[in-house]
Amino acid sequence: MIKITVNTARPYDIFVGGSLLDRAGELSRNVNRGQKALIITDSNVAPLYADRVAKSFKSAGYNTEILVFPAGEQSKKLDTVSTFYARLAKSGFTRGDLLVALGGGVTGDMTGFAAATWLRGVDFVQIPTSLLAQVDSSVGGKTGVDIPEGKNLVGAF
Ligand SMILES: NC(=O)c1ccc[n+]([C@@H]2O[C@H](COP(=O)([O-])OP(=O)(O)OC[C@H]3O[C@@H](n4cnc5c(N)ncnc54)[C@H](O)[C@@H]3O)[C@@H](O)[C@H]2O)c1
Repeated sequence: MIKITVNTARPYDIFVGGSLLDRAGELSRNVNRGQKALIITDSNVAPLYADRVAKSFKSAGYNTEILVFPAGEQSKKLDTVSTFYARLAKSGFTRGDLLVALGGGVTGDMTGFAAATWLRGVDFVQIPTSLLAQVDSSVGGKTGVDIPEGKNLVGAF
């Protein structure tokens, strides 16, 4: 496993290597001490990896939930993020808890935006599963959603 520390104003680590799906919970514990983790993923990625990643977070002591939304850019909108807020509220997620993006750039952008705005900002971890997400959208902290007037017009760092 390789660790790359990104020295931005608020530094963060990137891990590259094998078996990271099984170590995601343990590695997240280095940056978050919360009780709950919500894994947000899409309908294509969920059947491939969600249970395995959830097991990792459960082993690390998180009360773990999975939320699945329909795959595709057409889901990258405020209506979908509102369903995330509803689940976070229903499950009692506090400022110390964790959001986990498991998927491509659409998942990462929406989960990051939800993390930036839920309770005015909570921790979040990206587990990028597409090449684009691994080399671009999960790096640098840009998050957001599309609105009818254009792509990525609403977002946060
Ligand atoms: N935040 C940023 O800096 C940044 C940078 C570049 C792009 N983006 C955004 O990223 C999005 C595009 O990213 P994307 O191409 O990953 O889109 P995506 O998340 O829609 O993924 C593309 C497709 O691949 C599927 N998929 C993902 N991982 C898979 C896997 N391991 N196995 C099988 N299928 C898998 C998804 O379900 C989806 O159908 C755009 O919305 C774009 O605006 C953001």
